[in-house]
Amino acid sequence: MAVLGNAYLWLLAAHILFVIFWIAGMFMLPRYLVYHQEALAAGRTDEAATWVERETKLRHIILTPAMTMVWLLGLTLATVGQHWGEGWLHAKLAFVLALSGYHGWAVSYAKKLARGEARLSGRTLRMINEVPALAAVAIVILVVVKPF
Ligand code: HEM
Repeated sequence: MAVLGNAYLWLLAAHILFVIFWIAGMFMLPRYLVYHQEALAAGRTDEAATWVERETKLRHIILTPAMTMVWLLGLTLATVGQHWGEGWLHAKLAFVLALSGYHGWAVSYAKKLARGEARLSGRTLRMINEVPALAAVAIVILVVVKPF
């Protein structure tokens, strides 16, 4: 059957699905951190403990598996589609690396909050929340428009 024949398109569909899951989680976790930090600052310890639980579940069920799959499928697509020599892929990889670094930072900040340490102001935390949206805009333009 022709529909099963094009492995590249199946890989691409899977890549895009896991991208959606990863980015959705990357929008949720930093927002959770804002609420978590506010609960800590107000001394609402029960609520803060609930945020620790939600953050842990989000990481284990969505964020870590989705990021792993996006990387595996993306690298496979680049190899199968012979895109390694193309400039847009190198630029895209730089943004994806930055987004992965941001992911790691958000997880480490969640762990600090779980220990009761809140190092950033609420305003800074809210501003940093915009990073995944900006990275997604750059990445999608690079892979769809392929300007170079
Ligand atoms: C982890 C490293 C990644 C690699 C190596 C990678 C690589 C690729 C490759 C080779 C393609 C196929 C391009 C084509 O056939 O023209 C692709 C498609 C795509 N990627 Fe990624 N990708 C990665 C991560 C991401 C991330 C984080 C996003 C979004 C934030 C993303 C969004 C997309 C989209 C939307 C497409 C479909 C483009 C289209 O079919 O027009 N990718 N990716």
